[in-house]
Amino acid sequence: MKTEYAKLSEESIDPEVISRAGRILQEGGLVAFPTETVYGLGGDALNPESSKKIYAAKGRPSDNPLIVHICRMKDLVPLVAEIPDAALKLAAAFWPGPLTMIFKKTDLIPMETTGGLSTVAVRFPSNKIAAALIDKAGGFVAAPSANRSGRPSTTTADHCREDLDGRVDMILDGGPVDIGLESTIIDLTEEKPVILRPGKITRAMLEEVLGRVEVDRTILSGDSSLAPKAPGMKYRHYAPKGALTIVEGDRAAVTEYINRQCDACRAEGIRTGVLCTDETRDAYRADSVKSAGSRQDEDAVGRVLFRLLREFDTEEIPVMFSESFEDAAAGQAIMNRLMKAAGHHIVHV
Ligand code: TXA
Ligand code: MG
Repeated sequence: MKTEYAKLSEESIDPEVISRAGRILQEGGLVAFPTETVYGLGGDALNPESSKKIYAAKGRPSDNPLIVHICRMKDLVPLVAEIPDAALKLAAAFWPGPLTMIFKKTDLIPMETTGGLSTVAVRFPSNKIAAALIDKAGGFVAAPSANRSGRPSTTTADHCREDLDGRVDMILDGGPVDIGLESTIIDLTEEKPVILRPGKITRAMLEEVLGRVEVDRTILSGDSSLAPKAPGMKYRHYAPKGALTIVEGDRAAVTEYINRQCDACRAEGIRTGVLCTDETRDAYRADSVKSAGSRQDEDAVGRVLFRLLREFDTEEIPVMFSESFEDAAAGQAIMNRLMKAAGHHIVHV
């Protein structure tokens, strides 16, 4: 399949391009598009054949459900069996925006889209290109992150090209995304709301609206005997091709430990990479040192994390070390993705 590319800006969306992209979705095709979190790989959420195509294009196991994207609050109604009070409150506070809510589904959404589950994940993105596309597609777009399964999520159209060229009908280039980490997922189908995936909307923000919110135990744990409630969280994810180790501890001890490891690798002719911050970047002796920005600016770190992991792949770096980001408020989302990228390999020094 030949993939068509088109550039769009949120400020002035070319109506012809967006209509063509919408038509592709209505006819059962696939379009990658920007959202405020990461790029999405979209198909018509009501068409089981489209969902099958999404799984095939991503190389994703088909028991891993897709998020249904909407562009109007009223379109939530036919998708879900009931709208709990908590959902109304969260929608008022955070929609459109980087929050996904899990509901009990109706029959409108085929099982192919929800990976066989009787629940459905719904998101109302704030990106204007995403909203225009969803509207033109008929209102319901199923979209996982637009990466090949297992790779870091895509935050630019170039990343989408790397992973999906020839596998989707169209890629809409809306420039680099704002947030860089996928939406927060909250499950509202149980007695208590539970965060299944941390993101830009933090636990504190959710608790301000709802009162107490639980966090799925598997989010930061490496214990593979625990089954996460979001099926996708169990898969190896975001993983660069080389081996990544997170090093946690006092700043001086971390740089010293990483430098010693890098020196040992160099002695054996093995190239190394370090993912760090502006505060420490000059202290490292690795072959490839990448700063995710200042530690003071967590948003900036989140925005570039997946891009930097992809760059290590392009440079074919076999051994990588990363500083830890635990303290930050957004740190839980960043650490959750890093821990998965590292296969939960963390060293305390
Ligand atoms: O920011 C985002 O959410 C991006 C953009 C494109 O919107 N999408 C995204 O989709 O990250 P994906 O498919 O890469 O991740 C969706 C996660 C998976 O871990 C999946 O298992 C979980 O959501 N999920 C989807 N439906 C679910 C459901 N009914 N119950 C529990 N988890 C669900
Ligand atoms: Mg994903």
